[in-house]
Amino acid sequence: MKPVRVGLLGLGVVGSGVWTVLAQNNAEIARRAGRLIEVVAVAVRDVDKARALVGDEVRITTDGLELVRDPDIDIIVELIGGNTVARSLILEAIAQGKHVVTANKALLASDGNEIFAQAQARGVIVGFEAAVAGGIPIIKAMREGLTANRIQWVAGIINGTTNFILSEMRARGLPFEDVLAEAQRLGYAEADPTFDVEGVDAAHKLTLLASLAFGIPVQFDKAHIEGISHLAPEDIAHAERLGYRIKLLGITRRRAEGIELRVHPALVPAGSLIANVEGAMNAVLVHGDAVGDTLYYGQGAGSMPTASAVVADLVDVARLQMADPEHHVPYLAFQPDAMSDFPVLNMASVRTSYFLRLRVDDQPGVLADLARLLSDAGISVGSMFQQPHGVHQADIIFLTHEAREGDVDDALAAIRDLPFVHSGVIRLRVENFN
Ligand code: NDP
Ligand code: HSE
Repeated sequence: MKPVRVGLLGLGVVGSGVWTVLAQNNAEIARRAGRLIEVVAVAVRDVDKARALVGDEVRITTDGLELVRDPDIDIIVELIGGNTVARSLILEAIAQGKHVVTANKALLASDGNEIFAQAQARGVIVGFEAAVAGGIPIIKAMREGLTANRIQWVAGIINGTTNFILSEMRARGLPFEDVLAEAQRLGYAEADPTFDVEGVDAAHKLTLLASLAFGIPVQFDKAHIEGISHLAPEDIAHAERLGYRIKLLGITRRRAEGIELRVHPALVPAGSLIANVEGAMNAVLVHGDAVGDTLYYGQGAGSMPTASAVVADLVDVARLQMADPEHHVPYLAFQPDAMSDFPVLNMASVRTSYFLRLRVDDQPGVLADLARLLSDAGISVGSMFQQPHGVHQADIIFLTHEAREGDVDDALAAIRDLPFVHSGVIRLRVENFN
C-alpha cells in the first residue's frame, strides 16, 4: 500500500517530537497502521533550523497554505498553536478534503464546534488526542473505551505547569513566583504562562472532556475558571494539617439540572491517588455508571509524550482513511445529530465542601460572630482551628460540610463586612469524589 503523506505545520517542541517518533519507530508504526507514514513537507518560520532537523529530503516552506493546498498531501498535522494562523490553515485543509491532526486545545475550545461541523460536512477526520493531557490517551478512552457508560463525572489534573508549581510549593515551602520561574525554565509553561497559572489551559482541555463525556457542544465561554496565583504557602500547609493536598482540578459533572464545568484549586484527601500525582504529571479520573472509577495517568506535556498522541491519531487516520465517513468515530464521541443541549450550570448552584481561611483580630466574640453568620446561611462546620498570626491577629480555618456555593458566597460577603475581618478571605473547594 502507498505511504500516507503528511504535511507538518510547525516543528517546535511537539512537531520535532513527531518527526523523531516517526523516524525512531517507523517500521513498528507501519506494522500497526498497515502502511508507512511519511512526512513529505513541513512549514515553519525558520527554515535553517528546520533543515538541521529534517535534512534535505523533506520540503520546507514558510507558507503553510502551500502544504494545505498540495494535492499530494493526505493529512495535515497542525502544531503551530494559537487561534489565528492555525485556525485558517485547519479550515482550509478541511475545505481541501484533508484529514487533520492537531494538539491545539486553545483553538478547539474556542472554535471546535465550527471545525467539527466543517469536517463532518467534508467527511474528513479531525484527531486531537494530544490536545488533552498530552501523552495520556484519554480521548481514545472516553470516545471509544467507555462508550458503554453513562459518564457521571470527570475530574483531572490536566495542567502540568500548575501541578509542578503546587507540588514544589508544598514540598519546599516556596512562594508561587519562585516556582513559576522554574517551571518556565524547564519548558512546561505555555507561551503565555497566565494560560497555565490562571487555569485557562486546563479549562480549554476540560471543555473538550465535557463534550466527550456528555455529548454537549464545546462551551469554553461557560466554564468557571480560577487559577492558583492567589494561593499562599500557608494555605497549602493548613490543608495538609487537615489531611488534604491542594491541586488545580478540572471537574465536569452531570447533575439533574445540567452540567458542572469548572476549573479551580481544590483540597483533595492526602491519601487519594490524585493527591499523589506530583510534578508535571497529569491524571484524569472518569466515573462511568457501568465501569465505576477509572484513572489515567502520565505525562501531560513535552516533546515525545505529546508526539506519542499525535502519531496515534495519524495511525488512526491511516487505518480509517478509506472508510466511509459514516463509519468514522464521531469527533466528540456522540453522533453530531445526537448532541444534547443540556445546560452548563452556574457556580452558585454547585454543592461541595469548603475550606475557609479568615484573618481576624484575635479578640472575644469573633468566633461566635463568624459561626452565627455561617449558621444563618445554613452552612454547617465540619472542623475548625485557629493559628496565631503575629501578636493581635489570628487565622481561623473552617472546613464546612457540603453546602451550596451561592450560600457560602452570601455568608462570606457578610463576613467580609465585619470590622475585625481583614481582607484576603480565602475560599477553596474540597473534593472527596463521592
Ligand atoms: P512551539 O512554539 O514549540 O512550536 C511552534 C512551531 O510553529 C514552530 O516550529 C514555529 O516555527 C511554527 N510556526 C509558528 N508560526 C508559524 C507560521 N505562521 N507558519 C508556519 N510555522 C509557524 O509550540 P509547541 O510545539 O509547544 O506547541 C504546538 C501546539 O501543541 C500548541 O497548540 C500547544 O498548545 C500544543 N501542545 C503543546 C504541548 C507541549 O508540551 N509543548 C503539549 C500539548 C499540546 P519556528 O520553529 O520556525 O519558529
Ligand atoms: N502548558 C501545558 C501544561 C502544556 O503545563 O500542561 C500541555 O498542554
